[in-house]
Amino acid sequence: MNSNFERNNIAELEGYVSGEQRNDPDLIKLNTNENAYPASPQTQQALETINIEDLRRYPQPTSDNFRRAAAALHQIDPSNIIATRGGDELLRLLLTTFVDPGAAVGMTDLTYSLYPILTRIQDAHPFAVALTNDWKLPLNFTEQINAESCQLTFVVNPHAPTGTLTSAADLIKISNNINGLLVIDEAYVDFVEDPDHDLSRFAANSRNVVLLRSLSKGYGLAGLRFGYGVGPQHLIEPMLRKTRDSYNLDAISQALATAAIQDQVYAKENWKRVNAHREELVKELTKMGFDCIPSQANFVLATVPDASATSAEAIYHALRTENLLVRYFPDERISNKLRITVGRPEEQARLLALLAPILGISAA
Ligand SMILES: Cc1ncc(COP(=O)(O)O)c(C=O)c1O
Repeated sequence: MNSNFERNNIAELEGYVSGEQRNDPDLIKLNTNENAYPASPQTQQALETINIEDLRRYPQPTSDNFRRAAAALHQIDPSNIIATRGGDELLRLLLTTFVDPGAAVGMTDLTYSLYPILTRIQDAHPFAVALTNDWKLPLNFTEQINAESCQLTFVVNPHAPTGTLTSAADLIKISNNINGLLVIDEAYVDFVEDPDHDLSRFAANSRNVVLLRSLSKGYGLAGLRFGYGVGPQHLIEPMLRKTRDSYNLDAISQALATAAIQDQVYAKENWKRVNAHREELVKELTKMGFDCIPSQANFVLATVPDASATSAEAIYHALRTENLLVRYFPDERISNKLRITVGRPEEQARLLALLAPILGISAA
């Protein structure tokens, strides 16, 4: 036993470091992929109908109203859905329910940096498969995962932090050939423009696929902490009935999340608007010499112009001094890039205006 009483795997662990969150009304925050716009007005109305008296009682333990609404949206059965406190709670439930301590958990390099941390908390070990130079899954991805006997594998799609999309057909092929569970993290899928890219019915009827959905990005509700999983009953039930916290979601967030996903007209308008802003941002960054990886999410990963004497890290710091946050990752493969969340037009205009002098070019 170590002197801090921590389990050894926890003592050795460096915790997850969240993107900077600062409560400053003048701050332009393009660093943690929140939606540029708030949730549907119907969500605001749902909030206004909540009474303190309603909170005297415990909430629905399994968020059944939300599950019914999500099931109607995806045209599947509520038994194929679990509601969780953000997508992050689903990740933890998947690991504690389906991964033995000591087992291998597959993922890609790069990926969402919480996966290896949660894997280590479960005392399992991360096995990372390198993405190709153009950020795709390598052709032998499944073989590598099976050779390592991964009990569970995380694939984030659209990929974070690059925004690239793997096709539904490729993911179905992988799931058919992979021996363990395949978790497809669709935190950013709402921004995918192809209406046929929908794996929910496939996942609900699959042997081994669980989708992660989040209300943080597409629905403008990062502060609410609400997400859900979609999968076959034999994977949803053990999490719902055995490993989930007794009342994992409070009554307020259940009511607001249900209202938000029921207003699909508003949500779809929002996704269209955000995507249009993304295209505008890419166009302007490209003009300045940045190379933007084609993104299907509400962020872009932009490579700093070759000719620039200023590093990505220096640009990040210079913007931060001006009260504008973007994300810089020191990881070797992307240390010459900045991840920029799609913002409102005026926020993007400010970014571009600040970038020009930092790069030593005149503003357009
Ligand atoms: C790839 C990915 N998956 C899952 C999440 C978790 O989202 P949340 O817990 O806010 O629903 C995030 C959040 O940034 C993410 O980037």
